[in-house]
Amino acid sequence: MRFKTDHLIYGGDYNPEQWEDREDILEEDIRLMKEAHINEVTLGVFSWAREEPTEGEYDLSWLRRRVDLLYENGIETILATPSGARPRWLAEKYPEVLRVDETRHRNLFGRRHNHCYTSPVYREKVWEIDHKLAEEFRHHPGIKAWHISNEFGGDCHCPLCQKDFRNYLWEKYDGDIDNLNHAWWNTFWSHTYDSFEQIESPSPRGENSVNALDLEWKRFVSHQTTDFMKHEIAALRDGGAMQPVTTNFMYDFDGLDYEELAKHLDVISWDSYPFWYGKEDIISASEHAFYHDVMRSLKKKPFLLMESSTTSTNWMPVSRLRRPGILENASLSAVAHGSDSVQYFQIRAGRGGEEKLHGAVISHYGGTDTRIFGETRRVGEILEGLSEVAGSLCDAKCAIIYDTQNRWALEDSYGPRNTGMGYHDLARKCYRGVKAAGLDTDIFSQDQDFSGYKLIIVPMLYMFRGDFAERVEKFVKKGGILVMTYWSGVVDETDLTYLGGTPHGLTDVLGLRFEEIDSLPDAEYNHISPVSDNSLGLTGSYFADKLCELIKPNGASTLMTYDEDWYAGYPAVLEHEYGKGRAYYVCADMEEEFYREFIPAIAKRHRIKPLIADVPYYVDVASRVNDSCRYIFIQNYGVLEEKVKLPAGCEVLLGSADGVLPPASTTIVRVDL
Ligand code: GLA
Ligand code: ZN
Repeated sequence: MRFKTDHLIYGGDYNPEQWEDREDILEEDIRLMKEAHINEVTLGVFSWAREEPTEGEYDLSWLRRRVDLLYENGIETILATPSGARPRWLAEKYPEVLRVDETRHRNLFGRRHNHCYTSPVYREKVWEIDHKLAEEFRHHPGIKAWHISNEFGGDCHCPLCQKDFRNYLWEKYDGDIDNLNHAWWNTFWSHTYDSFEQIESPSPRGENSVNALDLEWKRFVSHQTTDFMKHEIAALRDGGAMQPVTTNFMYDFDGLDYEELAKHLDVISWDSYPFWYGKEDIISASEHAFYHDVMRSLKKKPFLLMESSTTSTNWMPVSRLRRPGILENASLSAVAHGSDSVQYFQIRAGRGGEEKLHGAVISHYGGTDTRIFGETRRVGEILEGLSEVAGSLCDAKCAIIYDTQNRWALEDSYGPRNTGMGYHDLARKCYRGVKAAGLDTDIFSQDQDFSGYKLIIVPMLYMFRGDFAERVEKFVKKGGILVMTYWSGVVDETDLTYLGGTPHGLTDVLGLRFEEIDSLPDAEYNHISPVSDNSLGLTGSYFADKLCELIKPNGASTLMTYDEDWYAGYPAVLEHEYGKGRAYYVCADMEEEFYREFIPAIAKRHRIKPLIADVPYYVDVASRVNDSCRYIFIQNYGVLEEKVKLPAGCEVLLGSADGVLPPASTTIVRVDL
């Protein structure tokens, strides 16, 4: 089903069931929402106990009335299924719906997200309530989309889940336990299985030394969660609901392989809660921009920012306020990177419970004469003026391979560093390099097709699955530019190391092979300097820490070398021409500034055109395109004014007309194609 909106959606989670005794508050909320230019609310995320107060007795009249009223006032609804938290009666009558933890203890009733995805009873009860909601709202013109459950995550180790796990493995390994033993290297420590019946999920009290078991368990959890989500979607469809479906993903969450879930959703959405650093806001902005790009890349289509906060959250270690202008920047960052919405958790702050002190559009004070309400209204005005951006896409020439399954394997494996391999941080540094080059980038796993891009960046891809290496070889041979880093191509999909040279299958493409990897203790580092007359014209020296590889060149030429320790003079950055393309290899964990010189130099040399030239450190640039024009978003996150050269002939939609960017501000320009 296609998700489409002709305007940018502005709204967020709204919980009117917490205020049923306050008719005045409902009226006031609608008035305030209109004043803030809000055109959407997300309802019912945790309303099961109100929708089905006792088993089989439903009451949706309160919800219907609110959906109607909001719609009459120009506010559409994204309606949630309530499976993220269950009513007390359900857990009491059917204890099997409660989750069992990895030590094999069943949880008590409480909190949310505390349910088994396998339990037939839970699935049946969820089916019934979802079906009822679908029957009630399937024809309602105010329903924009369905929001399935909430922030899927976590695992359950109950007997039902164990049984399904064994079935999953049985299918995958063709019912042949020797296949599995071989792929998991189970002769190690005499852990061979005699039958699938003996397999148990990983546990700190039992098996937790088989990396392949850990990996398959994570794959199974993704599979089972996806299956549960599909079950919910099927209930809605069976109930006659034909609106698009989504579910809200999370930041930096590696508990699920989102690519698996994404296949079954009509539109991707996610919840973005940056920690704002003040002077260094660019760090957080860039991290979240990275994830906006991840989310957009899941379908290569606009996504929705499902949740964010108007001000601080209440669950971070410290609840830092954001300085003026940052709310606008954060909201427009989502739009810049492909979102067709800006939504908040929450519209009105509740009076009790864990989230009463979380930021909201409407505070406990309730007035509009506050900084936050003012900024929220301003964002609403800006979004209303940017309707033409809705639906526009991204035509990135660059792709970063960032792979959840790789992360699982990399971080689970013992050695070479058990105090953090820094995968996410490395990807983020590469991303900053791409952004310094003034480029857009897609970000996706190794399973996706990258053949149409000009530049692919492959940070620390420890696990190569399927025909990845062959596809990379073909890509470079035909003229593609590859950047690969240390610790790539080491293991296969069940974490068995490859034999022969690594990066597996790419030693000819890269003109080198791996020899050894040194892991540096915290606070120790090496330095890297360019060789004179290197082909990229690199001039900076940088520090490297965490991991330093020793590489044996075999055709590749050296661009930079290590300065210190007994491997001073060994290559640290190499390049190799292969077919019509070129492959670069980075041997060590370099600081961000290295990537901010290296990637722009590559882009320049290979004529990949920037959106704007010379992007300053505190500035993020991204673009969206439609058939007739490109929208370029230029955001200054710094505390000082910055200056850029705007594209010739552009029309300014917001912000600066002369390229002078005030602190914490966004400029948007349109360029005709
Ligand atoms: C998550 C949840 C919301 C709420 C917010 C608070 O994103 O989905 O229900 O708890 O966090 O930041
Ligand atoms: Zn279970």
